[in-house]
Order: sequence, then structure tokens, then C-alpha cells
Amino acid sequence: MTTQASCRRLAAEDVEIFQTLRLQGFRLEPRAFRYAPEDESNLPRSEAAARFERDYVLGAFHKAKLVGIGGVAWSGGAKTHHKALLYGMYVEPAHRGAGAANEIMRNLMAAARRRVEIVLLTVVSDNLRARRFYERWGFRAYGEEKRAIRIAEDDYLDETLMARDFRRAPSDHQVFIESKKP
Ligand SMILES: CC(C)(COP(=O)(O)OP(=O)(O)OC[C@H]1O[C@@H](n2cnc3c(N)ncnc32)[C@H](O)[C@@H]1OP(=O)(O)O)[C@@H](O)C(=O)NCCC(=O)NCCS
Repeated sequence: MTTQASCRRLAAEDVEIFQTLRLQGFRLEPRAFRYAPEDESNLPRSEAAARFERDYVLGAFHKAKLVGIGGVAWSGGAKTHHKALLYGMYVEPAHRGAGAANEIMRNLMAAARRRVEIVLLTVVSDNLRARRFYERWGFRAYGEEKRAIRIAEDDYLDETLMARDFRRAPSDHQVFIESKKP
């Protein structure tokens, strides 16, 4: 299946659908995110909506329903504003492998490329699907944080630190096409 997803920047009026999908991700994929549902379930709506002003957050829509999200947070420091952090990538299970995630990433990378040199992210080390997705989009692992997430006693998850350097990586298009070669 190919999802005919249209992608747009989210704004304050999208806060309910965004938080609903974000928390669905935390609930359905507890081993993919460093946040638990309770971390944000009582977040004041004004605080949640502030994210849309501060960051660059996109939603993928299929037949007018939000099915995927992802964002980039800009680094504000005078010495770090060449960097950004990619976060919160989540696509509903039924729409995975169908293009929605690509559409979000393509638009995020286009916006990031205009503003920063490097995009960073963290991903749970054994989340092989997400890692593969990020690698296809030109991200490369540069380190690992052991026991970054504590699920329960004696149940920890390591996180891989990945970066995409626009000065070094080929263009988005090339990365995508090349990774599809046999
Ligand atoms: C991460 C996510 C947004 C990617 O979207 P997606 O639609 O699944 O991505 P795609 O199908 O385009 O790409 C996934 C790639 O992993 C591959 N893959 C699938 N299952 C895999 C597995 N078990 N091991 C390794 N690779 C796998 C796919 O074949 C595909 O690679 P390809 O395009 O080279 O064939 C989505 O899977 C998701 O929401 N996952 C749950 C939440 C999550 O993990 N978020 C990331 C937090 S850092």
C-alpha cells in the first residue's frame, strides 16, 4: 500500500490531534521512545502548542486524518545554532512502509537544510526499523548512550546517537535513490 499522504506544518489549532497521535506512539511503542504517556498526558495545551511556534513540526495526513508526525527543534545558542534535533517521528502502524514517513522526512530535511548544517537524533539501538529509515535518509551513527532509558528494574535500553551533516552527505534525493539500488 502507498499512503497518499499530504504533509503540512502543524500549528496551535492542531494541538489536540498532534498530542493524541504523539501519546498513541508512547503507548503503543514503549520501547521506541524515551517518553512515557504520563510524561505528557497532563501537559497544558498552551505548553504543548508552544512547540509549533518554537520548532518545525510536520504532520502527514491521509484522507484528512493525521497519520504521521515528526519535528525539528532548532538549537538557539550563539555557538550551536548550526545544529538542530530531529524528534518525535511516529507513523501509525497501518501507514508504515507506505511513504508517509518519507514525506515527513523529505519536508523536514528541506527545512533543516535551509537553516542548519547538522541534524542530530537519538534512536533506541535495537529499533532496527527506525535506524534503517534514518540511515536511508543520510544519518550516520556516531556514538551510543548505554542504559539511556530505564523501562523497569534490570530493563534498560541503549540509545544510538546519529547525525546528518549536510556538508558531507549527498542530497536527499541521491541518498534516497542510492539506497533503493539493489
Ligand atoms: C520510524 C518510522 C517513523 C519509520 O516509518 P516507516 O514507514 O516504518 O519507514 P519505512 O518503511 O519507509 O522505512 C523503514 C525501513 O526499515 C526496514 N525495516 C522494516 N522492518 C525492519 C527490521 N525489523 N529491521 C531492519 N529494517 C527493517 C524497511 O524495509 C525500510 O527499509 P527500506 O526502505 O530500505 O526497505 C515508523 O516505523 C514508526 O513510527 N515506528 C514506531 C515509532 C518509532 O520507532 N519512532 C522513531 C523513534 S526514534
